[in-house]
Amino acid sequence: MKTSRLFAALGATIALAVSASALAQQPIIIKFSHVVADATPKGQGAIKFKEIAEKLLPGKVKVEVFPNSQLFGDAKEMEALLLGDVQIIAPSLSKFDRYTKKVQLFDLPFLFNDMDAVDRFQSSPEGKAMLNTMISKGIKGLAYWHNGMKQLSTNKDKLTRPEDVKGLKFRIQASDVLEAQFRQLGANPQKLAFSEVYQALQTGVVDGQENTWSNIYSQKFHEVQKTIANTNHGVIDYMVVTNAKWWKGLPDDVRTGLEEAMKEATAYANKMAADLNERDRQRIADAHKAKIQTLSKEDVAAWRAAMEPVWKKFEGPIGPELIQAALKSNQ
Ligand code: LMR
Repeated sequence: MKTSRLFAALGATIALAVSASALAQQPIIIKFSHVVADATPKGQGAIKFKEIAEKLLPGKVKVEVFPNSQLFGDAKEMEALLLGDVQIIAPSLSKFDRYTKKVQLFDLPFLFNDMDAVDRFQSSPEGKAMLNTMISKGIKGLAYWHNGMKQLSTNKDKLTRPEDVKGLKFRIQASDVLEAQFRQLGANPQKLAFSEVYQALQTGVVDGQENTWSNIYSQKFHEVQKTIANTNHGVIDYMVVTNAKWWKGLPDDVRTGLEEAMKEATAYANKMAADLNERDRQRIADAHKAKIQTLSKEDVAAWRAAMEPVWKKFEGPIGPELIQAALKSNQ
């Protein structure tokens, strides 16, 4: 072989080796997409997860967070996860009923007395087991993240008793339990993606909605509603989920690092959730746009009685033992 050809071949081999090693050192890109604002419990949790994961796995992973339905909204995020277009999402627990009936548990009205009870249930063996109920569908639960208790809002002045919502149109998340809940009240529920709620309220496509203080404030729902009643009638929490196959295929050290990052981010998000909701409740009160309606014990009892029949309808698919386990966490 001529010297010049020998050098050319050698050069090509070296170039190949260099680019292969550069490839080997490329960080794994982890897209984390969600639908709420950064200044919410989930938004803060996602940012914290990025921070810790990149610190624990320097050069090995890069986490890109996409808030506010920027990358995928409610309608597409689950399919995107299964297709591998996004690696982590954290839908509210109301948005899984196409994949498992068990998680519908969390939507039963007045199931949990408060967020401490929700926390106790999620940490129980039954709660933890639910993280794996969608594995056969390709979805793996990594953690639960808190947001908080739901409040009810409308574009009407009076909102103290269940009869006040008769005939009104409500935006709901894609959940059959929530649909039944509003039908039970004689109202008309409409499933809409989170990103469409503000406009639907503003234009009168719907009269009201149910959400946490932090979601109401960060989406400015209080600017297009007249009354928000502090019903605390249900919970909005999240399951942080990943593509089960992708997760299994990660190098062991990366998976372990991500597990640790998720653990720390979960503790952080859950610790912040109550404060952020309290802060935003106060901000809504200070804004003097929507009136906050405090309910008496008797009012709350009336809402509870009006919504209770929903439990019977979903007891079968959810499983009575699971409902019992959740109720135990109230004690
Ligand atoms: C919703 O109302 O759709 C919210 O629960 C969105 C969210 O992720 O908090």
